[in-house]
Amino acid sequence: MFDIKNISENEAKEKLEFLAKEIEKADIAYYQNDAPYIDDAKYDELRHLNNALEAKFPHLIRDDSPSKRIGAKLKSEFKKVELSVPMLSLGDIFSDIELHDFILGIKRFLNSSDDIEFTAEPKMDGLSFSALYEKGVFVRGSTRGDGKIGEDITENLKAIKGFPLYLEKDVPDVFEVRGEVFMSKADFIALNSKNEIEKKKVFANPRNAAAGSLRQLDARITEQRNLSFVVYTWGDVSDVFWKTQVEFLDYVKDLGFPVNPYNKLCKNEEELMKSFNGLMENRAELPYDIDGIVYKVNSLELQKRLGFLTRTPRWAIAHKFPAEKAITKLNNIRIQVGRTGALTPVADLEPINVGGVLVSHATLHNEDEIKRKDIRIGDIVVIQRAGDVIPQIVEVLKDKRTVELEEFVFPTVCPECGAHAIREEDEAVRRCTGGLSCPQQAVERLKHFVSRDAFNIEGLGDKVIEDFYNEKIIKTPYDIFTLEERNRPVDLFSAGDSLNLENRDGWGSKSVSKLFEAINKSKNITLQKFIYALGIRQVGSATAYLIAKHYHNFSAFMNAMIEKDIELLISIDGIGPQVALDIVEFFKEEHNIDIIKNLIKVVNIEDFNDNIIEDSELSGKTVVFTGTLVNLTRNEAKSKALSYGAKVSGSVSGNTDIVIVGENAGSKLKKANELGIRVISEDDFIKMTS
Ligand code: IVH
Repeated sequence: MFDIKNISENEAKEKLEFLAKEIEKADIAYYQNDAPYIDDAKYDELRHLNNALEAKFPHLIRDDSPSKRIGAKLKSEFKKVELSVPMLSLGDIFSDIELHDFILGIKRFLNSSDDIEFTAEPKMDGLSFSALYEKGVFVRGSTRGDGKIGEDITENLKAIKGFPLYLEKDVPDVFEVRGEVFMSKADFIALNSKNEIEKKKVFANPRNAAAGSLRQLDARITEQRNLSFVVYTWGDVSDVFWKTQVEFLDYVKDLGFPVNPYNKLCKNEEELMKSFNGLMENRAELPYDIDGIVYKVNSLELQKRLGFLTRTPRWAIAHKFPAEKAITKLNNIRIQVGRTGALTPVADLEPINVGGVLVSHATLHNEDEIKRKDIRIGDIVVIQRAGDVIPQIVEVLKDKRTVELEEFVFPTVCPECGAHAIREEDEAVRRCTGGLSCPQQAVERLKHFVSRDAFNIEGLGDKVIEDFYNEKIIKTPYDIFTLEERNRPVDLFSAGDSLNLENRDGWGSKSVSKLFEAINKSKNITLQKFIYALGIRQVGSATAYLIAKHYHNFSAFMNAMIEKDIELLISIDGIGPQVALDIVEFFKEEHNIDIIKNLIKVVNIEDFNDNIIEDSELSGKTVVFTGTLVNLTRNEAKSKALSYGAKVSGSVSGNTDIVIVGENAGSKLKKANELGIRVISEDDFIKMTS
């Protein structure tokens, strides 16, 4: 940590740049990808730090400052919705003192010492939505997006059970209600267990599950998920005749919208505190997640007088619950070995309920963390679960050590293969040096090799890879490509040598031939996917792409790496020396070279192709994709179109030349027809680009 009081202007400038980037990254992970990687507390800390620095150096506020943004930018494929009344967010408080100050601030602003009435409403942990009704008919649904422009989720809202499409009673001509879509804890657990069986995405928490279910381009998926919603405020309304928040809540309830039954009117600070404590104590029993309480000044007249700060109303605030803690026993410290050989300690805990979630594992981060906290197997520990993150051990209760416990000694050999596990200088992580002779690394690498963004071989799921590895059917990536040959009996007498995959439990000739088909199809692979598939440390898809773009073909890249010619590599924008060293290190290992040499014999690595094909039917044309594509992913389709010289746009206009329609195309197709634009099918497009 640094001292904000004594920070120099230069340091502050640097820090603000760093914070803008970090917060943006976290926002994208949270809002666009539904996959947060830092916890709420850490995120709040970043934002608070940013605000504190900006308050101290207002002239350093950046154009891209997080304080000027509300949520995050949009997922590109959704139609955009302009929100005539912005959807704001709320300020946060975390303590009684802050609550006291909040109320005091309001009283000062209003120049009044009278008690002020507030509603206290459970802060639903879901995804906010807006629903617009014109003359009582539901016409448009939107997410919050960046607060001013949201994503069109009209069809998705319609797919939620009980979502009112018509309002039976008289309502203002323009009537926009807002609230939260969420998933109950029970529905979340049911969805995850179903997805686990079907090897589909398992969500981190109900909030992500709700977001992932609502923001589906294909609303039929939304329909299959159990989502719930409540209404808690309004946006654009042509006639606001209610005078208080309570009156509004009663009014929408009367219209048939669900409102939270625990919303409460509080006369003073004491009642607000009571409400907060009551809900905090009982939150585990609620059927859905809440992450705090929202207080809103009840009177609309006072709300109007109080007005807004930049991003948030002055008349409302969110009082967040502290991270939840629990005490339990540490049964074991297990060392996991990852694809790149990193040894990661995991705490196996006596299972315990923390805020409605059964916790049986916690992260221990690394070797130093265990030492610093002196964590020993058998200890009684305090664990904490905050929002989305993996539970952590925050403290060891040393006075609960009734018997002598042994200090934990971090292994210096790999628990999976026995090879030395070494820790480089300046590295927090200890790594197994066994490379591919370490079974765990080999299995993890194989899983990576066949994963979607690499060879993308359907039919080789995690379980199959594990089984095949254990039975020595597949030990290296090359073995995947000899599978078919090894499965074919050479002659009647040597039939016993065949793998006989057809006879495996749960398999049959159909699934076997499907698998071979998938394997054969995967043999044609782009350079960037091939590089990614190798599983080189720190080389993700983006880095692999940069490498492909620079070296154009695999042998150029491999030769340079064998020659340890890393200057060009480091000169690539986006590749630092650390990554470059890891890449060179990878090519130093004899067994990696062997695997690559074998692979090159059986796969066809396409050279990197950024040469736009000039004389195609698509060159120079502006194209729009709409509907669900069946044979191509959106990204594949887009990059195909780009490589054939087309421009890809998200919306149909007078400038559009061709609209490519998949299944269930809607308004874009309609517009294209109205404008007389050429419409072609996915198949036509594939023919054009092959
Ligand atoms: S009122 C201007 N009421 O919290 C105030 N928000 O950080 C608009 N939320 O985006 C919001 N429960 O997603 C309000 N009873 C409630 C809420 C609530 C959950 C969420 C909402 C909003 C966020 C604010």
